[in-house]
Amino acid sequence: MPNLLETRGLTAFYGDFQAIFGVDMQLQAGETIAVIGANGAGKSTLMRSIAGVIANRSDMILYRGEPIGSIDAADVVRRGIALVPEGRRLFPSLTVEENLQIGSYGKRDAGYWSLNTVYELFPVLRERRRNPATALSGGQQQMVAIGRALMSNPEVLLCDELSLGLAPVVIKDIYGAFAKIRIAGAAIVIVEQDIAQALKVADRVYCMMEGKITLTGGPAELDRADIHAAYFGASTDELA
Ligand SMILES: Nc1ncnc2c1ncn2[C@@H]1O[C@H](COP(=O)(O)OP(=O)(O)O)[C@@H](O)[C@H]1O
Ligand SMILES: [Mg+2]
Repeated sequence: MPNLLETRGLTAFYGDFQAIFGVDMQLQAGETIAVIGANGAGKSTLMRSIAGVIANRSDMILYRGEPIGSIDAADVVRRGIALVPEGRRLFPSLTVEENLQIGSYGKRDAGYWSLNTVYELFPVLRERRRNPATALSGGQQQMVAIGRALMSNPEVLLCDELSLGLAPVVIKDIYGAFAKIRIAGAAIVIVEQDIAQALKVADRVYCMMEGKITLTGGPAELDRADIHAAYFGASTDELA
């Protein structure tokens, strides 16, 4: 099966600083993959590269076989890739509903997702639709950020650290919505520092360290010790 989304030898820079060194990643239609790794591993840089927030060499990112590495963020959304950014990035002066509607600007074809279906997915957002986004709890704000991304009816949904700073019960609620998002047709890339959460939802896992992929495989075939080494580097035992 051809890949829906693929990076080939992807490199990414902030000025002179190189954050990513030759990342090869593949995502197939309907698949959910997870990218795990410690703080600073390059996970967000990988997501920002795919989403067009950071410019890359064109042929380092392929979507449906077409090079998209150097197109801008708005064009990436139009083609069907939406990012839920780390830290949510809602518009504080806008209501919940206005924040959601922003996600449908420049939208492609009509699809499953609309205000109504987002409210069905997260009913609490319908109740709070006239409230400023900042009046919501952290978990509810994360729901708005996911809903905003869904409003573009993406074929690929990129989620950067959804669970950061949220209570376990809230994280469970949010990941509970992913079954429905998958059924509606999106392939999903989940970035997580929480390894257990990543292994639970993903068909395949990529582990990143210092800007490189250090391990990849299905949750069942990955060994805990291998994940630990790929995530943190040499174990403290080996260093001693
Ligand atoms: N805006 C930026 N300017 C300069 N360096 C950055 C910027 N954002 C991230 N970095 C650096 O790039 C590397 C990867 O960061 P990031 O992709 O945010 O990692 P992660 O999401 O895995 O925590 C880190 O060394 C980080 O300090
Ligand atoms: Mg990050």
